[in-house]
Amino acid sequence: MKPIPAARRTNGVRYAIRDVVMAARTHASAGMNMLYLNIGDPIQFDFKTPPHILDAISASMNAGNTGYCPSEGTDEAVAAIAAESKRKGITNAHHIFVTTGASEAIEIALTALLDEGDELLVPSPGYPLYTALLSKLSAKGVAYQLDEANNWQPDVEDIARLITPATKAIVVINPNNPTGAITDIATLDKIIAVAKEHNLLLLSDEIYDKLTLDGEKMISLASRAADHPVVTFGGVAKCYLGPGLRVGWGVVSGATDMVRDYADAIGRLERARLCASHPAQAAVAAALEGPQDHITDMLAKLTVRRDRLMAGIDAIDGISCVPPKGAFYAFPRLHNVIDDNQFVLDLMAATGIVCVPGSGFGQAPNTAHLRFVVLPPENIIDRAMTRLGEFMARR
Ligand SMILES: Cc1ncc(COP(=O)(O)O)c(C=O)c1O
Repeated sequence: MKPIPAARRTNGVRYAIRDVVMAARTHASAGMNMLYLNIGDPIQFDFKTPPHILDAISASMNAGNTGYCPSEGTDEAVAAIAAESKRKGITNAHHIFVTTGASEAIEIALTALLDEGDELLVPSPGYPLYTALLSKLSAKGVAYQLDEANNWQPDVEDIARLITPATKAIVVINPNNPTGAITDIATLDKIIAVAKEHNLLLLSDEIYDKLTLDGEKMISLASRAADHPVVTFGGVAKCYLGPGLRVGWGVVSGATDMVRDYADAIGRLERARLCASHPAQAAVAAALEGPQDHITDMLAKLTVRRDRLMAGIDAIDGISCVPPKGAFYAFPRLHNVIDDNQFVLDLMAATGIVCVPGSGFGQAPNTAHLRFVVLPPENIIDRAMTRLGEFMARR
């Protein structure tokens, strides 16, 4: 028996957010005091899934909902997402599908869209799942720049410049992971205009839609797109504090004639994988239609923590940050650093701070960034900023 070779399509699959955990484990097992600012999971910190969501799942299990359910999702979950889509201004939802996390909705939407060699415009920096999936699909991710000098807004001229006959869609992540930027309406409208001109589908990842700071408003891309085809992604992971519940969704909107075939393909892919967790889908209606108080509490905590992180960064030479306005990340820039991967490993070895190198998300050439999560309590953020300051001063 010879060793089993891995498929070439897995070569490009990388996920820096979890990759740094390997190095952190080694330091932690050697007894080092670690400060984890790397993982976008609120439950690892002092946030808890709202009890009414957990109760809804327990009630669903106790009611015997442990058989398969419709592939697109339970009627109750689909209806709750339809109502939520309307509240977001999406008036022409054509197909709604409930999935194992937003991750599966993204995977299904890309698989239904892309043939080998097709191109997808993805934001840089942006959430790395998209490029990881493209490698699996033998399709090509083409990175368009978010402009750090313009509060990380998408550079629409860059998008237009990068379109080729192989381009199939444009991905927008709003609010963005890792920058924490909210895309402004004028930019959304320009992206829609480019998509219309070139016949491109829009994919709008809005998993952080309710996590906006400083009274900023987040506008759903599809609500501005009228009949233009858009797939909007959402889920309970972030705004409803349930990442491990693994419940997300996709909403295909736009003129029926334009999206029918594509939505049919999505439906076939859904049916081939049977369904998402049946009892966990009870979280959807409970989340979208139940009490929303936890969001107010969360935004209050995130605002204080974001401000503490910003104050810490501002006091250190050699690092600067565009203040995040949404989600729960900050993406500071390192000045005079060439290799952010090495910087992250050196920082971890010297201080125990665990964060993700900017290159794991994409960044403009000749720049180096870090991604911090804004989730830890103030004392952890303060300790991390003190250790970071000492480390930077020694370099
Ligand atoms: C922008 C973005 N989209 C999607 C996901 C994945 O969401 P889920 O946990 O629902 O699969 C994440 C998780 O961090 C994310 O940041």
